[in-house]
Amino acid sequence: MPENTLRAHDEAFWQTYIGRYEIDSEGPLNLENGYFGRMSRTVVEEYQRNIAFINRSNSVYVRQHFDLEHGDAIRRQVAQLIQVPPETVAMATSAVDALQSLIRNYNKLKPGDQVLICDLEYASVKSAMRWLARQRGAEVIELVHSHPASLESLVGTYRNAFIRHPRVKLMALTYVNHLTGLVMPVQAIAETAGEFDVDIILDGAHALGQIDFDLKKLGIHFAGFNLQKWIGGPLALGFLYIDPQRLADIDPDMDEGHYPATDIRSRTPHSTPNIPALLTLPLVFEEHQALGGASAKGARLNYLRDMWVSAVRDVPGIEVMTPDDPSLYCGITSMRFTAHTDQQAMADRLLDDYDIFTVVRHTSVGPCIRITPGLITLASDIKRLIRALIELSHT
Ligand SMILES: Cc1ncc(COP(=O)(O)O)c(C=O)c1O
Repeated sequence: MPENTLRAHDEAFWQTYIGRYEIDSEGPLNLENGYFGRMSRTVVEEYQRNIAFINRSNSVYVRQHFDLEHGDAIRRQVAQLIQVPPETVAMATSAVDALQSLIRNYNKLKPGDQVLICDLEYASVKSAMRWLARQRGAEVIELVHSHPASLESLVGTYRNAFIRHPRVKLMALTYVNHLTGLVMPVQAIAETAGEFDVDIILDGAHALGQIDFDLKKLGIHFAGFNLQKWIGGPLALGFLYIDPQRLADIDPDMDEGHYPATDIRSRTPHSTPNIPALLTLPLVFEEHQALGGASAKGARLNYLRDMWVSAVRDVPGIEVMTPDDPSLYCGITSMRFTAHTDQQAMADRLLDDYDIFTVVRHTSVGPCIRITPGLITLASDIKRLIRALIELSHT
């Protein structure tokens, strides 16, 4: 067995590992770790130190030293995280900030062209694509993927859309969607899009830190990410990636002039960043890598997901929303109680009767309950979830 898979099963390791985090001893079992990740105690301490330091030194340090001594080094480390050159990334305040900067500045659309989104995109990405289409006199094509999904259905839906709508020039693609947790076959979709000359803006918010990927191999030229989900960084940090060959296809943001047009940093709004949070990133990355990076985190999250999904997959009254093809799922997976229309009421019962916290998400086939273990989740927590789901399925 590969080392990460072995470690994923090693409860004694994870029992010790969770000691690195401060966790409320009161309150429900949190199976909604997809919203944002927890910082470790050491990261919190470092962040607090940095807040105090910047508050003390103020603009004297920031103006004289931050950009030259730390800002560039941190950007290099961000680039290293996804193994791309530093000059291909620019910091942002969130994934939405990064993605909307890419979308609003994409300059290849002409009146009469089409843009493509699907039912699984994040709402702020969809609205930005609709806004872009309106600004450029383009049309929006919105796909609804078939459910349950398979690799063939996902790729086939895009192929058919490109054939039916030959004026599509740009599409959004969500690597891991926030509704069901389905993982998109990005490489196969990008290959198909390439045949039809369609550009992709990839939403990597939920992929970074739990899936190992290589943007070049995936065939992705434009992407946006955040650092607070599976990397474990402070809130409100993100970044965008642009393939250097394609920089000219994204305009400087609203004529942004702080950097030359040849510098990717001109593609984001220029503003005062959260410097203490940025200064904390080197420790965040060190801890991420020390654990084994995305492949170790992904293996553990998938192990926990497999544990509950395999126990309830065939239970009457329960539908698991993602397939069991390992290329199409990750740690986040939604389910629904098929005998009930009101999934919020069922999530409330999970909380009230079993002390388990989850979140309801609304898909094109109806509402479902999203279950997201975290690195602080133990196998015993998942056993508790399984018992609750099975008991509730009988009601
Ligand atoms: C798929 C997806 N895209 C984008 C975002 C937004 O990320 P951020 O809050 O960093 O803008 C989220 C957040 O949950 C998400 O799940």
